[in-house]
Amino acid sequence: MAELSRIGVAIDDALLEQFDNLIATRGYTNRSEAFRDLIRNELVQETWQASEREVFGTVTLVYDHHVRQLADKLTVLQHAHFANIMANMHVHLDHHNCLEVILIRGKSKEVQTIANALIAMKGVKHGRLTATAA
Ligand code: NI
Repeated sequence: MAELSRIGVAIDDALLEQFDNLIATRGYTNRSEAFRDLIRNELVQETWQASEREVFGTVTLVYDHHVRQLADKLTVLQHAHFANIMANMHVHLDHHNCLEVILIRGKSKEVQTIANALIAMKGVKHGRLTATAA
């Protein structure tokens, strides 16, 4: 087993309380393990974001389809990247809101650029890219 180093972390009470609540809901029994997992997650994230390797992802969008030309703009953007966009699922959540899940592939940076453009589009209320590598 790798040698362990002990470090001291200064953190304000309110933030620590939130952290303790979070890790409790995730089933951690001690802070050290939760802290290590958080660091590992960030490192994995950093690795795939920086790499040139092929990644696969989903872009989840929630938007109001009444926003002028938004649905058209989303479609145009996806056609511009047809080689990266694999599939697309659209669900009408209610009278105004649509949920769209877009399957995307490509080089990490390419995928992030396309996802960011979709998410940043005016009228998109919430968006998130989740990516993984094979
Ligand atoms: Ni819809």
